[in-house]
Amino acid sequence: MDIKINLQGTALAQDAIKSKKADVSQALDRLWSGKEEMTGWVEAPLHQDQAELDRLLNVADLVKQEAELMVVIGIGGSYMSAKAAIEALPKAEDGIDVKFAGINFCSPYHKMLMDEMSRKETVLCVISKSGNTLEVRAAFDMLRDLMERKYGSKEAAAKKIIAITDRQSGTLREEANREGYVSFEIPQDIGGRYSAMTPAGLFPMAVAGIDVRALIEGEAAMASSPDWDNSACDYAIARYLLMEQGKQVETVEFYDPRLTYLGEWMKQLYGESEGKEGRGLFPVTLNFSRDLHSMGQFLQQGSQIFFETVIVINEYEEELVIPQGVLAGKTLEDLNRAAVKGVIAAHRKAGVPIIEIHIPKLDAYYYGQLLYFLQTTCAVTGMLMGINPFDQPGVEDYKREMRRALGQ
Ligand code: PA5
Repeated sequence: MDIKINLQGTALAQDAIKSKKADVSQALDRLWSGKEEMTGWVEAPLHQDQAELDRLLNVADLVKQEAELMVVIGIGGSYMSAKAAIEALPKAEDGIDVKFAGINFCSPYHKMLMDEMSRKETVLCVISKSGNTLEVRAAFDMLRDLMERKYGSKEAAAKKIIAITDRQSGTLREEANREGYVSFEIPQDIGGRYSAMTPAGLFPMAVAGIDVRALIEGEAAMASSPDWDNSACDYAIARYLLMEQGKQVETVEFYDPRLTYLGEWMKQLYGESEGKEGRGLFPVTLNFSRDLHSMGQFLQQGSQIFFETVIVINEYEEELVIPQGVLAGKTLEDLNRAAVKGVIAAHRKAGVPIIEIHIPKLDAYYYGQLLYFLQTTCAVTGMLMGINPFDQPGVEDYKREMRRALGQ
């Protein structure tokens, strides 16, 4: 496996890690049994529907040819994975600008987007598994109205709207069938935050110019690699044991700002999957070296409620050399590597448990591996905790209460 994990900085005893292996293998059996609800993502990379993938890539090509801008309307799992990949990964030149709506109830945010839509050739892509999330509903009704005015009729606008939703249920599915939108399906047995490799994530990524086939290849390599379970599962065990020792917060740290939204995606994955029954690690993400100058002090000497997970990219295609001054001849990555080393040494001295995750480089193939690795880690940790990592009753509560507040 290409993604490496180093647990030396956790000070966890090998025996403690080994003692959880039997539970982990039970969790893996459950994940791969095909009998657990919402585990469709586990085997999905190994049984990719090639015809459907070709159709998705063909529609993405058409969008790239006809539009300058695609506005994706979606929130949570129907937003985060696409946004994270688009921020992180290299994109082909024919990729177009992809922007996101329906991620808040903010007029100035949507007004700015609508102004841009008025000026540019635009395609709308609405994504919702349930088809009835209010943020998405509100933004879709507003932006579709703009599309109808911009392109002259409901029928003309419908040709520029793509819907991604459940195969059968929900109002968005009914609407897509009725209005004749091009549509793709989010499989019923894959929940929002595990849906990166369904059309919910893949379609916007493809329109932005990401090499979606490489991403899927990476995911499949991780799913089929004989030792894939060791690292993801050791990470899961370490998280679980640290939680049992009383740690309440996992600070996930990146040394590359392109991973900022991967951090947001991880927060959703971990937070929504594990925060149940009064338990779970509160996930926090930090962007280094920037946040060393704000949160570094707390990490070094503050209340020790946390452990750190450091995500390091090993190799950069291009490293900029500092041409003059005291650092002349060094690259920015030389400094980054020194920062990683120095921070880990200092924080270990202060007694902070540290998990390291190393990715060979930031491209679509390894990113696919990483997503699968993190989803597995999350599911296994949840199972070790004895909670269901695939439901989100708390989120459903907020949605219900909000509808009530609106008198709906
Ligand atoms: O992970 C989840 O299930 C949630 O975060 C959903 O993705 C989010 O609430 C959006 O739901 P939907 O896709 O049904 O609009």
